[in-house]
Amino acid sequence: MPSMTATKQAPIDPNIDIFAEIARMKSDMDAVILAHYYVDGDVQDVADCVGDSLQLAQFAEKTRAKVIVFAGVHFMAETAKILNPDKLVLVPDMEAGCSLSDSCPPEKFAKFKAAHPGHVVISYVNCSAGIKALSDVIVTSSNAEKIVSQFPPDQPMIFAPDKNLGAYISKKLGRKMVLWDGSCIVHELFSRQKIQLLKWQHPEAKVLAHPECEEAVLSQADYIGSTSGIRKYANESPAKEFIIVTEPGLIHLMKKDCPDKVFIPAPPTNTCACNMCPHMKLNTIEKLYLCMRDKTPALEMDEELRQAALKPIRRMLEMS
Ligand code: 13P
Ligand code: SF4
Repeated sequence: MPSMTATKQAPIDPNIDIFAEIARMKSDMDAVILAHYYVDGDVQDVADCVGDSLQLAQFAEKTRAKVIVFAGVHFMAETAKILNPDKLVLVPDMEAGCSLSDSCPPEKFAKFKAAHPGHVVISYVNCSAGIKALSDVIVTSSNAEKIVSQFPPDQPMIFAPDKNLGAYISKKLGRKMVLWDGSCIVHELFSRQKIQLLKWQHPEAKVLAHPECEEAVLSQADYIGSTSGIRKYANESPAKEFIIVTEPGLIHLMKKDCPDKVFIPAPPTNTCACNMCPHMKLNTIEKLYLCMRDKTPALEMDEELRQAALKPIRRMLEMS
């Protein structure tokens, strides 16, 4: 992740209506606000697009606005910049990273790739531009199955950086894949025992899980899919209760979609609030306002790296 020189920002005027100001600046700047489902509800509520990684990348690819304000994590905003080199891409907090992305440094991955000649490199979008540049195609949790199945059955493959998503796709499609040993700090903390207990307490509830969870947790699920897949499933299901095994920010819009349904966030293994993504939660409404007011921090990218990372992203968008 690029380091930022700390600049002193003027405080927020306590007399302003922050929501009205965000709306005004959005129109004055010709900006769109993109937000991932895991950010705070008030940030989601001011966004033009709230979605999963694929939906946000697709929206970023198509927008004609001059400025993209990205409330998510670094790799998501970076993908928007890769697709829009001439637009200003602002982020509320440049420190909002991702444990999965951090688990796969490009120098180590280049050696791993060199040790597996002849393998197609399929990388989950939760990775840095450096990893994308070493990949043949990018996938997200909502298109991984579709994209992997488009390769010939005997094609050797590397899947990085999420070993859980890789193992899930590998098992589902019956395809061998060499997996990079990375995982998400949030999804790794769900446990089979806690979910079994919740199922016992709510016998009618459907369990909806993100594929970044471990296999033992996924074995408890009625549905496994991306954040948007989970939201869609709950919308369309006749069931009234759902145990949500992913970051609980997703529940904000699920409740709005279906006010008569009950959504139970799966707890982590211990008593902390570790089922919340600490990176996504850095996106507060105050920081969103400040990044628009001061037009910083903005994402910058080396053009050679951008061009190299663009190829597998374009391939993903074509194969989706
Ligand atoms: P989705 O693409 O399913 O929204 O997942 C993004 C993510 O970071 C999950 O942890
Ligand atoms: Fe990364 Fe996990 Fe946060 Fe998703 S939930 S952004 S994979 S750390």
